[in-house]
Order: sequence, then structure tokens, then C-alpha cells
Amino acid sequence: MPFAHVTGWGMYVPEPVLTNDDISKMVDTNDQWIRERTGIRERRIAREHEFPSTLGVEAAVKALQVANLAPTELDLIICTSSSPEYIFPATACIIQDQIGATKAGAFDLQAACTGFIFAVNMAAQAIRSGSIKNALVVGTEVLSRFVNWKDRGTCILFGDGAGAFVLQASDVPGGVLSAVMHSDGSGADTLTLPGGGSHFPASELTIHEGKHFVHMDGKEVFRFATRVMGRAVMESLEQLKMTTDDIHCIIPHQANYRIIETAAKYLKMPLDKFVINVDRYGNTSTASIPIATVEAIQNGRLKSGDKAVFVGFGGGLTWGAMVIQWTGPIPAKKNVHPEQYRYFARLRSLLRRIWRYIEGFFSRKSL
Ligand code: ACO
Repeated sequence: MPFAHVTGWGMYVPEPVLTNDDISKMVDTNDQWIRERTGIRERRIAREHEFPSTLGVEAAVKALQVANLAPTELDLIICTSSSPEYIFPATACIIQDQIGATKAGAFDLQAACTGFIFAVNMAAQAIRSGSIKNALVVGTEVLSRFVNWKDRGTCILFGDGAGAFVLQASDVPGGVLSAVMHSDGSGADTLTLPGGGSHFPASELTIHEGKHFVHMDGKEVFRFATRVMGRAVMESLEQLKMTTDDIHCIIPHQANYRIIETAAKYLKMPLDKFVINVDRYGNTSTASIPIATVEAIQNGRLKSGDKAVFVGFGGGLTWGAMVIQWTGPIPAKKNVHPEQYRYFARLRSLLRRIWRYIEGFFSRKSL
């Protein structure tokens, strides 16, 4: 049975920075309160012309560059987002078209902030089953467009950004070693974006009631997160008969510094084993784990051969964890330039649209 290794990684965050002081000009809050209760100092906000696919494509191309893999060699793309571009089509399909992944099946996976862990596990399982060889997983968010900038309970928390992993099959042991996935729909209403779906189709009333914004029972989510994070880490380790001593670092979902602190206490682990960057990006939902991973690699905190645990929680409610033995890029046989495929992809996309138009024109005539 092949192993599923993470051989490429990339992140992208928009340039504009929104500080706590900036937010204190919009709602009744202040830098000290936000830092003490959440650990967040600033977050990135996408510019008007940036969408989840824009951010996701940047992260994906970087991940393909690290893996030295041409987009045409991808078999599968899973995109996970709490702020998808549309209800449909899937953001994954837009990314597939823009990076030129001509062979890949692409779909979105929705599990709120736990999405990245669930998606990596699904891609790894597809590789382990032997049905595919190369997969791309993208977590991408423009949550700033779903945040009520008049609600101080939520607008301080979220930020925009994207992260991506390339997973590849190999006979060498390692890669994704174990994973646990959990859900509890009885808590669905504690964290929700209710408007615009078929339960509350968009209308003047849904807009008036602010149903198109993120709604959250912060205290309840906090309690839930502190309950499940440590337990999920232990479950993923127990599957391998490992303990926290076998782990080089934990990369948690970056929602709140205090939640991570509580998990560290539960696990009786020093906080410096946790990769934390919530101070600079806020909660980037599905993108937070891959962004933290990329920074951990850049800072030398995650190296080839190291074992790490990813752990996340979010709306649904959902939570999960996974143990990964970090690999790094597979030695290159040839040098590919994944970024160059984007230009061909744009042309190809345009030609396919024209071709569809011509086909439609002639088939209408022949009817
Ligand atoms: N600035 C100043 N005061 C505030 C603010 C603010 N931004 N927000 C709330 N307050 C006030 C409240 O009104 C309250 O005042 P009161 O005592 O006079 O009523 C007081 O501060 C305490 O409010 P709490 O809600 O009890 O504050 P808490 O310590 O719980 O912190 C927070 C709130 C930061 C939202 C916290 O509950 C939290 O982080 N929860 C988890 C959120 C989370 O992780 N969400 C993402 C999940 S992942 C996903 O799927 C998207």
C-alpha cells in the first residue's frame, strides 16, 4: 500500500494589514482587550479584486513549485473554505482551471475550520488506496466578506489567507500516519453563516437580519474547542501507540491563543512545542494550519523526518487531528516550472469557452 507524503507546501496572504487599533475605530473595542482575550494583534484583508480562488491559486502554485510537480500531473484537487467563492461551482474547479491542472478531478469539502485536516485525510486515503498518485489540497479564505464589521464579538477574530499542500504517493514509509475526524451536528447553531443557502434563501429580510454574516456563540465555541483539542491529539497518537514525547511540534488551528494554551495544559506539553502565529493573521479558518506549517518550515521548526500533529476544530461542529511524518520534496528527476502553466491555462480556458460557444451554435442550427 503506498504512503501519502506531503511533498509541497505554499501560503499566500493579502498585503493589506488591519490592526486592532484600526478595528477600534469601527467598533467599541481596543488593542489591549483583543490581545488579552485572543492573542491577535493584526490580520490580513483581501483587496477588492482578490477572491478565495485568487489566494488559493497563489498558494497552490508555490506548493507545486516546492514539490517540483507540474499541475498537469495532479489527479485530484480538494479545496476547503468557510468562505467559498460561490455555493457552486466549487472553488476547487476555478483553481483547477487557473493553474492548468487539466487531468484533475476537483471538488470542495466543507467542514469549517477543520476542513484542512479532513481534506488532507481524504486526499491521503485516495493515495493510500492506490486510486491516485498526486493530490493538491487548498485551504483558502476571504472571510472578511462574511464578517459583520459592526459586531465586536466576531469582527476582531478573522483574517484572510490561503495555504496549500501537495501530497504524493511513495513506497517509502512516512507521510500521513494517522487521522481522526469527528462531528457533532447538535452544536450546528453555535457557529453558522445561515443566509444564502436553501434554508434562508437570500432576500431583503435575510439581509436586514444579517443572516449573511458569521454568527457565533463565542463562549460556547471556546468551551467546545478547549474540550476537544487535547483529546483529538491523544486519539491520533494512540492509533500509532505514540505519546506526546514522540512529537516534535503541534500545529493547531489558530483561533485564539488562550484555546491553544488550554490544550497545551491538557496535554502537559510546553507551549513552545506549539506553532503559533494567530497574533499576525487572526483566524484564517481552513488556511490557518497550512499557513502555520509553511512558517514552521521557514523557521526551521519542522524538518524532514520530524513528526508533527495537526489539530483543528470548527463549525459543524467538527474537530480532528492527524499525525504526519514530515517528508519534504521527493528528489527531482527533472525541473518543472508550475507557474508557467498558468499562462497556458488562461489561454486554454479562453479557447475552451470559445469552442463551447461554437459547438453550441452549430448544434442549435442542426436541431
Ligand atoms: N472588545 C471589547 N469588549 C468586548 C469585545 C470586544 N471585541 N467582545 C466582547 N466584549 C465584551 C462583552 O460584551 C462582555 O462584556 P460584559 O461582561 O459587559 O457583558 C465581555 O467583553 C466579555 O465577553 P465574552 O464574550 O465573555 O468574552 P470572552 O472572554 O469569551 O472572549 C471571544 C470572546 C474572544 C470571542 C472568545 O469567546 C473566543 O475566542 N471564542 C472562540 C471563538 C472561535 O474560536 N471561533 C472560531 C471557531 S473556528 C471556525 O469554524 C470559524
